Amino acid sequence: MKKDKIAIIGLGYVGLPLARLFATKFSVVGFDINTKRISELMSGIDSTLEVDNETLQSVLVSDPSESNGLFCTNQLDKIKDCNYYIITVPTPVDKNNRPILTPLIKASETVGTVLKKGDIVVYESTVYPGATEEDCVPILEKISGLKFNKDFYAGYSPERINPGDKEHTVEKILKVTSGSTPEIGLKVDNLYKTVIIAGTHLAPTIKVAEASKVIENSQRDINIAFVNELAKIFNLMNINTQDVLEAAGTKWNFLPFKPGLVGGHCIGVDPYYLAQKAQEYGYNPEIILAGRRMNDSMGGYVTSEVIKIMIQKDIKIKGAEILILGITFKENCPDVRNTKVVDVVAQLKKYNTNITIFDPWANEEEVMDEYGLISTKEIPIKKFDVIILTVAHNEFKKLNFDILKKETSVVYDVKNSLSQSQKDNGL
Ligand SMILES: NC(=O)c1ccc[n+]([C@@H]2O[C@H](COP(=O)([O-])OP(=O)(O)OC[C@H]3O[C@@H](n4cnc5c(N)ncnc54)[C@H](O)[C@@H]3O)[C@@H](O)[C@H]2O)c1
Repeated sequence: MKKDKIAIIGLGYVGLPLARLFATKFSVVGFDINTKRISELMSGIDSTLEVDNETLQSVLVSDPSESNGLFCTNQLDKIKDCNYYIITVPTPVDKNNRPILTPLIKASETVGTVLKKGDIVVYESTVYPGATEEDCVPILEKISGLKFNKDFYAGYSPERINPGDKEHTVEKILKVTSGSTPEIGLKVDNLYKTVIIAGTHLAPTIKVAEASKVIENSQRDINIAFVNELAKIFNLMNINTQDVLEAAGTKWNFLPFKPGLVGGHCIGVDPYYLAQKAQEYGYNPEIILAGRRMNDSMGGYVTSEVIKIMIQKDIKIKGAEILILGITFKENCPDVRNTKVVDVVAQLKKYNTNITIFDPWANEEEVMDEYGLISTKEIPIKKFDVIILTVAHNEFKKLNFDILKKETSVVYDVKNSLSQSQKDNGL
């Protein structure tokens, strides 16, 4: 029997760790349209920091016909002889929060051109229920001329990794799998079982697997929205929200969510995929969208709280020097996509304040390209009227705030990572 050969389409935060993992047991070809990313990976470097260089280099091969190992390319003919195609491309939303399926459609077109009888195409990108069979499979059929569930098959296996998390790596997270027929479901499940140490859960249908992923992130979003609402209420009542959460958290079934800015391309995006599909079916998802509205309002809320304290302390707002600690969407990770720190910056700029962004993790070029903002990896040598801790990078825990603060100043802690004596207020 011929050994399985796997193509991974899209080598980002999700695709690369998966490709690396499969490459320990299979011949894997990683395909990406970003040529810079391909040459970076083939030189053994992962700029997303999800796979350390040594681990990446240990699986890289210079010949895609090797029986095990990872070869990365942007050339279509190098994925022609694969029999599994796993698609891990982005699924963002547009400025009106509507799903953008273009990368998924384009990746399906790519796979359609190389699809052969017996092949299986597994989607891993987060989508709404129905996207695989209703949006992607028709493209595969049209481009390849092959018949679905007769000539080729599909599967869906959502990714659950958490960027920057070195404990819950892909092989240690139980993986939901599914297939377009019961037999293909088993095949897909067996494939993942060969590398996922934590095991798998075979869902009965592709739609169930798609829905399971999108609700995981929607559930987190709604829970965070609830504690964000609590933070707003308790702040009005002059009660410390963290103290309340700590006290309530002593009950065995109280969920440990924390208030904050909800950025990134998962929690802040995926609920819109579910909402869009629900609306197509004539249902207006009130709770899901209320959660989104609450979480999206937090940048403006943080700004108004900071301005309030500045006024109370007689700090001149126009021209105030403000230091923003962290621009990434979460701590200890270089990912700046859909970071909500930019909402705080945009609001503060409306008051004609001078903003300095210090982030030891963020790539300065990426911050400039994506948001038109200057950020620095070096500690600024300057004193500030306001310091806002927006991301809880480990580096900030060791920071000496005294050398960064003017005599009268405001320190606002969005992440509750400073002691009470170090800050004026926080969420
Ligand atoms: N990053 C996470 O933590 C995470 C976790 C779970 C699920 N997801 C989901 O996984 C999917 C991928 O996310 P990501 O964070 O890895 O994205 P990413 O932006 O890091 O990587 C996507 C890669 O796909 C490439 N690409 C785009 N279009 C392509 C095409 N047509 N053909 C080939 N390559 C193409 C891009 O160049 C990029 O390298 C999304 O649906 C996301 O919601 C992400």
